[in-house]
Amino acid sequence: MSLETRSATLDSFGRPLRDLRISVTDRCNFRCPYCMPAEIYGERYQFLPKDQLLSFEEITRLARIFVSLGVVKLRLTGGEPTIRAQLPTLVRMLAEIEGAEDLTLTTNGYLLARMASELKTAGLDRITVSLDSLDEEVFKQMNGRGFGPERVLDGIEAAEAAGLSPIKINCVVQRGINDHTLVDLARRFKGTAHTVRFIEFMDVGTLNRWDMKQVVPADEIVARIDAKFPLEQIPPSYRGETALRYRYRDGSGEIGVIASVTKPFCGDCTRARLTTDGKLVTCLFAAGGKDLKGPLRSGASDDEIRATIQHLWSKRQDHYSEERAGLVLTGGALQHRRKIEMYQIGG
Ligand code: GTP
Ligand code: 5AD
Ligand code: SF4
Ligand code: SF4
Repeated sequence: MSLETRSATLDSFGRPLRDLRISVTDRCNFRCPYCMPAEIYGERYQFLPKDQLLSFEEITRLARIFVSLGVVKLRLTGGEPTIRAQLPTLVRMLAEIEGAEDLTLTTNGYLLARMASELKTAGLDRITVSLDSLDEEVFKQMNGRGFGPERVLDGIEAAEAAGLSPIKINCVVQRGINDHTLVDLARRFKGTAHTVRFIEFMDVGTLNRWDMKQVVPADEIVARIDAKFPLEQIPPSYRGETALRYRYRDGSGEIGVIASVTKPFCGDCTRARLTTDGKLVTCLFAAGGKDLKGPLRSGASDDEIRATIQHLWSKRQDHYSEERAGLVLTGGALQHRRKIEMYQIGG
């Protein structure tokens, strides 16, 4: 299918398939308790064996098929994507796909200082770095490995120098853990071109003991920052953006809040996810995904794989965050259900 003839692939609610988030490894050098608690993911934890990982050729082939179905944005995730061997080679291969307009990556930033310029040269457009706090003790606790924030800050600086802009900085907010450090994080990047995005703690996966009491609602996050540095809301930069945007009234930049819990954005959700072992997942909170690696490895043609993806997307009815909001915001309790873990789909 040529790019000129590609038309939107719509799900059952009319949402087009526009973004593909590709997990390139299920491993991580951090052990954030809200994602990969160290007591579960210890030395002996069995991550995927190498032969179960999609190869770069397989990822690129699938990405091309997704682009032919309307995807314009590719995001590499993990686990932690920078620990996948030869990552810049994959970036170079994906950057060559005609029609993929935005190629980006979400990282914890720990290895970024030494990789940023190589990633840029390979064709990465921009980058998002997770950083939950600037406070040494808080950050040590939140990455589960006792690392301080300095190396991540160096990574952000290297990404800026390499031209991986605009840089976004993701901060997961947990009440009683890091919410007292939000204003400091905002202050640090105020006056720069980087956008800090505060994310409501979500019930992704089954292991992070999520509780509504630990969620700081976006309105409260904005109010706390606004009290120190006055803010005003501005329109989204694209349809279906995860973050609500606010600019500093003094013109010194912007912040975002990702309010998946209190203001879900399923209505405009155009994101598909590909797991490290080649499953197509249609929602961050899905129980599982549709295997594409099997067909890939048993000789299916591009057209056959395209038809499988198209069929799955056209049946898609996911809107988990809206369902959750309907329950927890009215005082109801969530039922326990099977969910894929965060490190398998990279958020
Ligand atoms: P931009 O392309 O820069 O707008 O990035 P993004 O917000 O799409 O991606 P990123 O990896 O930075 O994700 C930010 C946060 O939003 C993470 O906590 C993700 O888990 C969360 N997120 C991203 N997509 C979705 C989604 O479709 N649903 C929900 N509920 N959360 C999402
Ligand atoms: N709730 C909200 N955000 C999360 N992330 C990981 N786990 C959660 C969670 N439970 C964030 C990471 C990263 C992004 C991809 O998702 O910190 O910035
Ligand atoms: Fe690793 Fe990111 Fe999960 Fe933290 S949130 S454990 S950095 S994959
Ligand atoms: Fe999309 Fe599922 Fe997130 Fe809703 S909960 S925005 S459907 S990924």
